[in-house]
Amino acid sequence: MTELRTDRLLLRPWRASDLAPWAAMNADPEVREHLGEPLTREQSDASVAAFRADFDRRGYGWWAVEVRDTGEFIGFAGLDEVEDGLPFTGVEIGWRLARPSWGRGYATEAARAVLAHGFDTLALPEILAVTTAANLRSQAVMRRLGMTRNPADDFDDPTAPEGPLRPNVLFRIAREG
Ligand SMILES: CC(C)(COP(=O)(O)OP(=O)(O)OC[C@H]1O[C@@H](n2cnc3c(N)ncnc32)[C@H](O)[C@@H]1OP(=O)(O)O)[C@@H](O)C(=O)NCCC(=O)NCCS
Repeated sequence: MTELRTDRLLLRPWRASDLAPWAAMNADPEVREHLGEPLTREQSDASVAAFRADFDRRGYGWWAVEVRDTGEFIGFAGLDEVEDGLPFTGVEIGWRLARPSWGRGYATEAARAVLAHGFDTLALPEILAVTTAANLRSQAVMRRLGMTRNPADDFDDPTAPEGPLRPNVLFRIAREG
């Protein structure tokens, strides 16, 4: 599995030692505000098993993100196929960091490396990003990356319950330009 390096971060394969801090993040209501119910330890561990299997199967997916200076695991960033049932298909970029690691530019820094990998190594023609209309922090990352939103692409996530998780926005960035 390819590792990606930035000035401050290492995007690397998942380790057993990531499972506990990953589960702690996924149990944090603030981290989960725009994602849905907090995950149990079992669900959180299962997500890592799925990330590893996805990476092995198709050569890309969700990397574990660590701070190079300290070796601290702080969350994930990566690429995934858009889930079935949405009104578009493609590959999406995403990120999720533990609360103490917000507000330091880490998500944008990790995402720039992921975008470069997606365009330069995987030769994707376009990369998408999806979040709830209410998740302004995540949309700010999308804008910092140069991604753009066409309001005509806004959609209701049919898999989300009625309420704030349902209205979603779609951002795009093309390899060319
Ligand atoms: C979405 C999420 C990753 C955004 O994290 P973030 O830290 O706000 O985003 P960035 O990494 O781009 O950091 C930008 C902030 O760091 C600040 N910053 C501090 N030092 C910086 C540096 N050296 N370089 C760049 N920015 C820096 C910026 O000023 C900006 O601050 P602001 O939020 O006050 O404007 C985070 O809120 C999160 O994990 N949320 C929960 C999970 C989630 O919703 N994921 C997305 C689902 S679609």
